[in-house]
Amino acid sequence: MNSKWLANDDIVNEMESFLKVYSQKPELVNEGGMKAPHMFACWVMLRALRPTHIIESGVWRGMGTWLFRKAAPQAKLICLDPNPHFRYHTDQDAEYSEKDFFEYDWSDIPKDNTVLFFDDHQNALERLKFASGKGFKHLIFEDNYPSTVGDCYSIKKALAGTGFSPAKAGILPKNTLKRRIKKLLGLKTFEFLRFVNHPSEIPPNEEDRKWMEDKADIYFEFPPVYKMEKTRWGDSWDEAKYPGPQPLFTEYHEKYSLFYEEALFYTWICYVRLK
Ligand SMILES: C[S@@+](CC[C@H](N)C(=O)[O-])C[C@H]1O[C@@H](n2cnc3c(N)ncnc32)[C@H](O)[C@@H]1O
Repeated sequence: MNSKWLANDDIVNEMESFLKVYSQKPELVNEGGMKAPHMFACWVMLRALRPTHIIESGVWRGMGTWLFRKAAPQAKLICLDPNPHFRYHTDQDAEYSEKDFFEYDWSDIPKDNTVLFFDDHQNALERLKFASGKGFKHLIFEDNYPSTVGDCYSIKKALAGTGFSPAKAGILPKNTLKRRIKKLLGLKTFEFLRFVNHPSEIPPNEEDRKWMEDKADIYFEFPPVYKMEKTRWGDSWDEAKYPGPQPLFTEYHEKYSLFYEEALFYTWICYVRLK
């Protein structure tokens, strides 16, 4: 399994075109959704892949959908989200469905030229295995958290063999008193918690990494544009706890200030190509 795919020079070459398009983004604060580092990653990866179809699982306000249309204007977009009322931007030519990725009928969708994009906070390895069974080849996972953080089982965790503990991640079990109080008070964090599907405990294991090595020929973590001294969790952004690619820039450039301001929203977004 190769961890190399796009070269840094080619990625940097896409920055100007991205910033030009991104300056016209819909006027919405995409709180809880993708910010510049991952929007840029999607832009570069989709333009490299040139898909005829994009399946987006996890639409939220619709900011990703908006960018996908710009990056692949001719692509058919199928956008899945069980909570359509969150959506602000609607693409007139996209198909929207509240079905889960596991429930949708994919038989008529070409597999070689379709990109699956997951930003749905579900178990990424289950998604990947299912996609592999259906014959899909190209996948992007947005919530690719390292072992000690994040609210779902990611490809990065699977490769590290560390498993995933919802309790350690601070995810409240269904119907706890705290959860009901949050709902009663209409706290914002509750809205966020609504799209976490009470994930299951994944014990530490070697099998998931082995599965990846057997079935995937590329696992590529898109680099951060900037890396900060501290993470959004307040600790040191160091290689031991947060391994990952080196940033594209180590020096501040005024024209790329947006990436600097939003650097902490980076969560190791990755591309997986299945054999
Ligand atoms: C972090 S947001 C997605 C952000 C979005 N990609 C963007 O453009 O910024 C997560 C979304 O996943 C959705 N979600 C939750 N469970 C899901 C599922 N099983 N399938 C698809 N989407 C799901 C939630 O409703 C929420 O809108």
